[in-house]
Amino acid sequence: MQKSLYNLNNGENIFSGYVERKSLFKNKRVLSSSFIPDNIPHRDAEISQISSIIAPALRGYTPNNVFIYGTCGTGKSLTVQFVLNQLHEVNKNADNEIKSMYINCKMKKVADTEYRLFAHMLKEIGHDVPDTGLPTDVLYNKFFETIDSKKQLIIIILDEIDALFKKVGDEFLYNLTRINLELKQAQISLIGITNDLSFLNDLDARVKSSLGEEEILFKPYNAMQLKDILMNRVKEGFNQSDIDNVVVNKCAALAAQEHGDARRALDLLRVAGELAERLGDVKVEEKHVNMAEEKIDIDKIIEIIKTQPKQSQAVLYAIINCDEKCLTGDVFEKYKDICLKNNIKILTQRRVGDLINEMDMLSILTSKVISKGRYGRTRAISLSVSDNVSNKIRNILKTRFEL
Ligand SMILES: Nc1ncnc2c1ncn2[C@@H]1O[C@H](COP(=O)(O)OP(=O)(O)O)[C@@H](O)[C@H]1O
Ligand SMILES: [Mg+2]
Repeated sequence: MQKSLYNLNNGENIFSGYVERKSLFKNKRVLSSSFIPDNIPHRDAEISQISSIIAPALRGYTPNNVFIYGTCGTGKSLTVQFVLNQLHEVNKNADNEIKSMYINCKMKKVADTEYRLFAHMLKEIGHDVPDTGLPTDVLYNKFFETIDSKKQLIIIILDEIDALFKKVGDEFLYNLTRINLELKQAQISLIGITNDLSFLNDLDARVKSSLGEEEILFKPYNAMQLKDILMNRVKEGFNQSDIDNVVVNKCAALAAQEHGDARRALDLLRVAGELAERLGDVKVEEKHVNMAEEKIDIDKIIEIIKTQPKQSQAVLYAIINCDEKCLTGDVFEKYKDICLKNNIKILTQRRVGDLINEMDMLSILTSKVISKGRYGRTRAISLSVSDNVSNKIRNILKTRFEL
């Protein structure tokens, strides 16, 4: 039997086993998703496309706007940040002023409203404004005046731009694409990034043609490419003798099946390493990748559940607390119970049915239509997760509702 990592009841310090054991990781930061590596395999074409579009900035011209799209984990955010870092590095001592503002529109409290966006952009250029209170026009004018107070180019990167559009519509984008006509000294270039392949079509035609002056598609990685990406990280991130050869192949293969998502590949690799280390194993092996896959999926479901609206959580809690056959009517009765005990407004049975459908689409639960003969039809609802996960969900919801 392998020695436990923690020495309990033998008089030694309980952590000494842990401290004595060499870590499997050499530099774990390299494996995190926010790390920007020095080289980016399999994106040479995209890097040169983007850099050739923004290079005129170095000679004082305003680059065309760029629209970048591709499924998630294809390296869009990384590549854009990499190219901009290089641009700033080479322009460091030049008179020609170039600023860039990276905005992740999915971040809460950044791009929820037009007001917040301007407040955020003003902060980026060194102006603090209150979080609420002023009319949006005032903020816009302040932004306009501040940037136009000198000759400079501002490159605004709107990452996950679809989230912005969903929250504030396209008028904001329209204004931003027209702003250069009015600016006297400064100029703005936009880089929009999205995972949503049909996003551009949703936009007003004028915004579409302006934002999409240049379009670049990031294609999914295949398993071989993912393997190269991972190998680079393995070299820096792990002590190489501690990782089995099949591990990288397995992570690459699994992520290739999921639309060539490099983030998924890296997550699998990192979590496999963490699990191996936690178990006190001396090598990261294929079994740890399998465990990592399960853990990541569970964490994802739990995260989804934690962020559901209260009403959906109440419905879910009703389902979890239903006896064996969980029919729509039973769920509704339980749900009403929960609402009464917790002071929550009771929605109609039809609305509750909609919430069940929504959670069905999120793969949290499945509902099956069953016929009740001449009494019509009903649905049997069950959680589509293992008992282990279902218990975890129950424990989370137990802290939120009385029953
Ligand atoms: N070619 C690559 N080389 C190294 N790491 C990469 C590469 N492509 C993506 N990654 C990594 O995969 C993860 C997802 O990439 P990201 O740029 O966030 O994807 P996207 O923005 O397209 O969803 C990040 O951690 C990133 O560092
Ligand atoms: Mg991204």
